[in-house]
Amino acid sequence: MQIHSGISSLRSALKDRGRVAFAPTMGNLHEGHISLMTQAKQQADTVVASIFVNRLQFGPNEDFDKYPRTFDADCEKLQAAGVDVLFAPTESDLYPEPQEYMVEPPAIQHMLDGEFRPGHFRGVATVVLKLLNIVQPQVALFGKKDYQQLMVLRNMVRQLALPIDIIGGETVRAEDGLALSSRNGYLSAAERQEATRLFRVISQIREQICHGAHNFPELEQAAVAELSGAGWKTDYVAVRQQSDLQPATSAKQALVVLAASRLGSTRLIDNIEV
Ligand code: PAF
Repeated sequence: MQIHSGISSLRSALKDRGRVAFAPTMGNLHEGHISLMTQAKQQADTVVASIFVNRLQFGPNEDFDKYPRTFDADCEKLQAAGVDVLFAPTESDLYPEPQEYMVEPPAIQHMLDGEFRPGHFRGVATVVLKLLNIVQPQVALFGKKDYQQLMVLRNMVRQLALPIDIIGGETVRAEDGLALSSRNGYLSAAERQEATRLFRVISQIREQICHGAHNFPELEQAAVAELSGAGWKTDYVAVRQQSDLQPATSAKQALVVLAASRLGSTRLIDNIEV
């Protein structure tokens, strides 16, 4: 696996590499990332991954400084997964001057996670557009665990007419259901056991909808109450339309249940399609 930190050396390395599939990450890789790399291999001649912890998408009181950085272990995993090229820029490689041109996503950036993480999707969209311009892949892959992020990025690529297919990778879960996430590493042993509740409550909502329940606010409130009773502090549990993440109005639509809640100081997100 080649490793490049500079934009020009990466661009030279990607000349004449055929069809390129690209999976951007912030490192601290787990099986969810590796399954994206495996899918990427099926899509292209050359698989490119990136590792970059993007300051622009973290709020002032968020975990940018403590975000786990595990570069050597990540390289071993990427190599084993058959990744051909890793782009691992430093902050000054990617942002040699203050990034003043930003991608401003539309209203979707202010709902759900955006309401609790102002500026987050602006930071994500800006870095991803920049990475896509640098790598110029034909395919890019993002995990469905970050459901809203995937939608923001799909819409960006479509509206800006980038010639890139976006693939959403299924969420990979631990045996007990917890969605794999770099932030799971912040949980204490007791919190790790409790953390499975998040997937249970959204799965229960899914079951109830499948069995005819359609009072969505009531389902959401019951889930928030169950989480609060177990010590969680919930930002949202929301039943939304898959097409645009607007509130669900009918169980006949394709729906998704999304949740973000804090266990101790760790904020976890999850979702399940109905
Ligand atoms: O999902 C992530 O890891 C990040 O938001 C991404 C897409 C790599 C942009 O920094």
